[in-house]
Amino acid sequence: MSSDESRAVWTAEPPGRTVVAVDGGTLLGTARMGPNRPGRGSHVATASFMVHPDHHGRGVGRRLGTDALAWARSAGYRSMQFNAVVETNRAAVHLWQSLGFTILATVPEAFDHPEHGLVGLHVMHRRLDDAL
Ligand SMILES: CC(C)(COP(=O)(O)OP(=O)(O)OC[C@H]1O[C@@H](n2cnc3c(N)ncnc32)[C@H](O)[C@@H]1OP(=O)(O)O)[C@@H](O)C(=O)NCCC(=O)NCCS
Repeated sequence: MSSDESRAVWTAEPPGRTVVAVDGGTLLGTARMGPNRPGRGSHVATASFMVHPDHHGRGVGRRLGTDALAWARSAGYRSMQFNAVVETNRAAVHLWQSLGFTILATVPEAFDHPEHGLVGLHVMHRRLDDAL
């Protein structure tokens, strides 16, 4: 994708929100968030995250995840759902579980991983009516 194409895909339209994590002038990562479904599913939030590989393991993903949860709660969402967490993405699965998400189900062989072949996609979920 070009930079313009990426921006168009990544930037969430209102009522969604897109944020960046920066260290001085260095962009470390970004997250987008908003309703998971339109209309009568719009009380459930979703979010997506990217941290630059040079800055993995510094807590940027955790900050972005915590920020997304706080935003969703303050915006009145009842829960947050991740639709497609690759089961071999150990950092992501660990991080979301540590932030209170549970794996509801795993869609088998739904992702064609470049190294591992066909692997599952977790649907992960967290209610927002308890303490963050
Ligand atoms: C997933 C991602 C957002 C995490 O960002 P990050 O800034 O590296 O994450 P953090 O440093 O905040 O925390 C990572 C956590 O995962 C843990 N972790 C890292 N690599 C791990 C691994 N291979 N196995 C298990 N845990 C791992 C870290 O120890 C840390 O947990 P801790 O705080 O309990 O010690 C980042 O790796 C990324 O952008 N990946 C590519 C895109 C992606 O996968 N997006 C999310 C899709 S659901």
